[in-house]
Amino acid sequence: MKTILQANNVQKIYGTKENQYKALEDIDLEVMESEFIGIMGPSGAGKSTLLNILSTIDSPTSGEIVIAGQNILQMNEEQLSDFRRNQLGFIFQDYNLLDTLTVKENILLPLALSKVPANDIEARVQEIADTFGIRDILEKYPYHISGGQKQRTAASRAIVANPSLILADEPTGALDSKSSASLLESLTQLNERHRSTIMMVTHDAFAASFCKRILFIKDGKMYAEIHKHQQSRQEFFQQIMDVLASLGGGGK
Ligand SMILES: Nc1ncnc2c1ncn2[C@@H]1O[C@H](COP(=O)(O)OP(=O)(O)OP(=O)(O)O)[C@@H](O)[C@H]1O
Ligand SMILES: [Mg+2]
Repeated sequence: MKTILQANNVQKIYGTKENQYKALEDIDLEVMESEFIGIMGPSGAGKSTLLNILSTIDSPTSGEIVIAGQNILQMNEEQLSDFRRNQLGFIFQDYNLLDTLTVKENILLPLALSKVPANDIEARVQEIADTFGIRDILEKYPYHISGGQKQRTAASRAIVANPSLILADEPTGALDSKSSASLLESLTQLNERHRSTIMMVTHDAFAASFCKRILFIKDGKMYAEIHKHQQSRQEFFQQIMDVLASLGGGGK
């Protein structure tokens, strides 16, 4: 199997020389193609910091990161913006949709920027709209759709260009339980049918139970890792709760 992401000895220090704060320490990570990984840990543990670094939005203080065979820490701004557009898909808690564009236009934006032919764009948007169950709202504007539909639109946009890696920070954070379940099922489908590689930060054990592997971070360091094997999602959920209990802070 192909390695999608390799991170070695990643550190992130915030603050000034006199007042340093180590947000991440000695983080090693290998992600294989078609994994669905959850990242959990108490509030302030460094989950978003890690995701932002892997997203190339932020840079580490030291360490090495290779994604899709490319060393992201040696790229200039222009290379990074191409890399983000071609290799990465992002899903954030607050959707980040453009209000002046329809759902469809929001979704196809990354393809339009990459100058993909119009016919191909149309076919791809329809295919994804089916996966996420949003065919009926493609012509609507973001302020006329629900939070769950916004998040599925954002997820559709994140994957439209077939990224090597999909990064999601609390994608269900603002959703009710029904919309959460529906987004998580769509992500699972994407992972299982299209072999998409997904990394998702969540404080929610239910959301995490959809993942195949979960990394627990505490105080900026790797604390534990569990894999889903043959057990049911309910059993995996229980296992997650047990690790969270041992972590302290209830995961939030
Ligand atoms: N720009 C910054 N400057 C200084 N400190 C920061 C900055 N961003 C984050 N931190 C600190 O780094 C630590 C990790 O923050 P991070 O946002 O990664 O936590 P998190 O695990 O995502 O928490 P949450 O579950 O609350 O989202 C926190 O103590 C935070 O206060
Ligand atoms: Mg966070």
